[in-house]
Amino acid sequence: MSALSKDAKVAVIGAGAMGAGIAQVAALAGHPVKLHDNRPGAAAQAIDGIDRQLGRLVEKGKLDAAARGAIAARLQPVESIEALADSALVIEAIVENLEIKRSLLQQLETLCGENCILASNTSSLSITSLAAGLKRPQRVAGMHFFNPAPLMALVEVVSGLATDPAVAASLYATSVAWGKKPVHTRSTPGFIVNRVARPFYAESLRLLQEGAADCATLDALMRDAGGFRMGAFELTDLIGHDVNYAVTCSVFAAYYGDFRFQPSLIQKELVDAGRLGRKSGHGFYDYAEGAERPQPASLSSAASIAPCVLEGDLGVAQPLVQRLKDAGIEITQRAGSGLLRVGDAVLALSDGRLASQRAREDGLRNLVLIDLALGYSKASRLGISASADTSPEALDQVVALLAKAGITTSRLSDTPGLAVLRTVAMLANEGADAVLHGVGSAGDIDLAMRAGVNYPQGPLAWAEQIGIGNLLRVLDNLNAAYGEDRYRPSLLLRRLHAERRTFHD
Ligand code: NAI
Repeated sequence: MSALSKDAKVAVIGAGAMGAGIAQVAALAGHPVKLHDNRPGAAAQAIDGIDRQLGRLVEKGKLDAAARGAIAARLQPVESIEALADSALVIEAIVENLEIKRSLLQQLETLCGENCILASNTSSLSITSLAAGLKRPQRVAGMHFFNPAPLMALVEVVSGLATDPAVAASLYATSVAWGKKPVHTRSTPGFIVNRVARPFYAESLRLLQEGAADCATLDALMRDAGGFRMGAFELTDLIGHDVNYAVTCSVFAAYYGDFRFQPSLIQKELVDAGRLGRKSGHGFYDYAEGAERPQPASLSSAASIAPCVLEGDLGVAQPLVQRLKDAGIEITQRAGSGLLRVGDAVLALSDGRLASQRAREDGLRNLVLIDLALGYSKASRLGISASADTSPEALDQVVALLAKAGITTSRLSDTPGLAVLRTVAMLANEGADAVLHGVGSAGDIDLAMRAGVNYPQGPLAWAEQIGIGNLLRVLDNLNAAYGEDRYRPSLLLRRLHAERRTFHD
């Protein structure tokens, strides 16, 4: 199915943050665009705002003045909805209310031609429900842009139960023509991004609640080891806790209280207190002028580097061994089960068990576990935990060893799966369930998380890098440690592991 031709008329309804951005994207792609809002003057005001933004791009040399003029000429504010009758595509970005959106769609389908596509930018409402009761529900689909629409590449093209596949295909092709990275998804709560991203917030919130580490340390681990642009606390402070908490609550309710999506009491308390994040001056962090930003807890050690013996390999953490060697550390090798002996200490990548439990079960003394990193050859920080019997001297040896290779260590309390590993395991688990339930393909889910929320790597590709069997073990161990439905591994992971396949086979 091909994209709408450039001369196809596009209408955008709702001239708020999203509508204005979408109108800009469509006009930039060459379409004549009518922008309508039921607040008198709002559409014209939004177009002035777009033009000012384009002006800034001209000043920076990113757009030439003629293009700015042409885009502005293609944008037309309209005060009456009747003026949208000749549209080939209408995208609504009005208030997030099912009844109001549905009655707008009803009005549009009587007004516009029968081939007109009616798209909704809703982030949380069901496309199936929005289209229900319409004469032509097959012409309705979701076209979910991310904020700010001109900058964010992702568009979730959402099919409801009645959506004609040709309509979804046309919106997909049109999004590509608009310079976007679209994905196909089904109308299920949270679509792809708002569903698969939930564990990113939930695991950090839980770790904080359990006292595993403080906000600054957990944020630093997600950034410096996980490769995420921001940790969950700084990110939710930016998004606004009212917004982020409401999305979690709506996804939790929509999945009939599935514990995987259970909202966090500590986030609710922030909302109750009016600590909504940056916009209110206080969230997990204090944004008052002069307020000191807490620093992540980092360990240091003056211990001399003890001789190292690698037994087997460290799995996905194996590049750490080369990094240590590059730092001048001598490591001898022998067969074994994935341990690095550092003097009296034993270092291993977490498998989701508590350090103390693993030490006892595997008969290891002075066990220190390390967390997952996006790239062990580059990570500037690693999370570690230790079993209860690990001596301060043994811990010191590990800290000194990692410091020699330029890695700062942050200690978490003895916590299953530490921070990055359990978060990535849960993101991948959610992504796997979304694939299993036909919400999206593995490729689209990975793309959505990279292009929609800037993850450094798609969670399913990450799962493959860790190894599906290893990831499954982490989840099984988390599940055993907590005894909660929340950590139940997806059937798809178990099936792929049993069949020795990956998501992309
Ligand atoms: P907004 O509040 O900034 O803008 C909504 C605009 O719609 C307002 O200008 C309002 O006057 C207008 N409006 C309300 N009812 C109308 C009606 N019946 N007819 C015509 N105009 C009407 O809201 P925002 O943030 O732009 O969100 C709009 C939609 O986009 C919502 O469905 C929201 O869930 C969705 N969305 C929002 C994102 C965000 O980050 N803000 C991201 C992705 C989707």
